[in-house]
Amino acid sequence: MRRREFIHAGMTLPIAGLGLTGCSSNTSNRYLEGNFAPVLAESTVISLDTTGVIPDELAGRFVRNGPNPDDNPSGSRYHWFVGRGMVHGVRLDAGRAMWYRNRYVASPSGQTPNTSVIGHAGKTLAIVESGGLPVELDYELTSVNDDMKMGGGFTAHPQLDPDTGELHAICYDWAALRDHVRYVVIDDAGVLKSETKIALPGMTMIHNMSITQHYAVIYDLPVTLSFLALGTGSSFPFRWNDEYEARIGLLPRLGEDRDIIWSSVKPNYAYHPMNAYEDSEGRVVIDVVRYDKMFESDTNGPFGASLPRLDRWTINPVSRTVSEEIVDERPQEFPRCHPDLNGKPHRFGYAVAVDAKYGFPAIYKHDVTKGVATQFSFNSGQHGAEPVFIPRASARSEDDGYLMTYVYDTNRDASDLAIFDAQDLERGPVASVHLPVRVPYGFHGNWIPDQSKSGATT
Ligand SMILES: [Fe+2]
Repeated sequence: MRRREFIHAGMTLPIAGLGLTGCSSNTSNRYLEGNFAPVLAESTVISLDTTGVIPDELAGRFVRNGPNPDDNPSGSRYHWFVGRGMVHGVRLDAGRAMWYRNRYVASPSGQTPNTSVIGHAGKTLAIVESGGLPVELDYELTSVNDDMKMGGGFTAHPQLDPDTGELHAICYDWAALRDHVRYVVIDDAGVLKSETKIALPGMTMIHNMSITQHYAVIYDLPVTLSFLALGTGSSFPFRWNDEYEARIGLLPRLGEDRDIIWSSVKPNYAYHPMNAYEDSEGRVVIDVVRYDKMFESDTNGPFGASLPRLDRWTINPVSRTVSEEIVDERPQEFPRCHPDLNGKPHRFGYAVAVDAKYGFPAIYKHDVTKGVATQFSFNSGQHGAEPVFIPRASARSEDDGYLMTYVYDTNRDASDLAIFDAQDLERGPVASVHLPVRVPYGFHGNWIPDQSKSGATT
């Protein structure tokens, strides 16, 4: 069931309406309530109010993906990670917000990519892990191609090598590949360049990876496929596993399975490294958001009894040991840093605060060299999301650029696209594009500049 609306100058004109049932309202599932709940219409908005000044140089789209489970999800058993994908995008050009669009990601395979959106090789791709194929979107975010095999199922977190333009990815597929995962490299033209099979002792949920100068970093952590969960019909059958060893693998970039240097870490689960790099002594340094446990107290989503904090892991590949230290114990998620420093030493990183009530009340900027952080705290009732860093074209320092995120405002039940000066985060947004609709809490997105567009219209 879907409805498409065309909104102009504050008016809402349904252009195709169907009877809407939405999600079940008689559940006690937090991932279906508040701003986790789906929106019930696809909208096109071409007249947007803006506060502040949108920087002239920003020409492109800010697009974010997330679950939008309006298709009768399984109530209290609904898992946040499996809702149908919906992308939300704002196009900016010449200091103006040209449009907002939200569109379902369409795929005949059922579970549509719901986790991130990237621009690569001139294409806009909605992506997901666990066997799902990428879906190509056109400039206006309509799904146009769901046959982007990339050698098989893909991932929600390919890592861009800024020197080569290649995407590196660890891909798992619990339904098809129970004894190994795939390490794939996609070249800058979007073509599969290499594939390496990696055998694992169990079917772990590998949400992400990292690259450094010499290694692909594999996070083999104790969230594994649960046949009990599978047998009882869980839509997302991964659970915490006390019996599984938590370990980090360093795979030489041109190496094979047998070359991986494995090191044990304390039991934890990590979705999102902020970045990883090799220091002057050849150690691998990883700044990472990590949880003590995952899918133990809450099997519908990530925010259970263990809230995420920012740690630093330093791996000595000779001794195969990992030193672990806390960078910031405050709960936070969705870390990002300068895209050109992916795999290289960084000073600054950004994350959104997480509170115990499943809100996102602030944006943090970390200076990991000095060991300090600044922040912008939203007004009461406002909640941020993943802060995406966009370097200024004429940037003269690592943090010379913008942060973009969607901000949900409980008071007006709608969202803004907020743009911050990353060098002056505490000042608050330099521009806010006020959307007449809300953007539900979701996952990841990116700024896709217009040089990668094809067939753009206003
Ligand atoms: Fe993620």
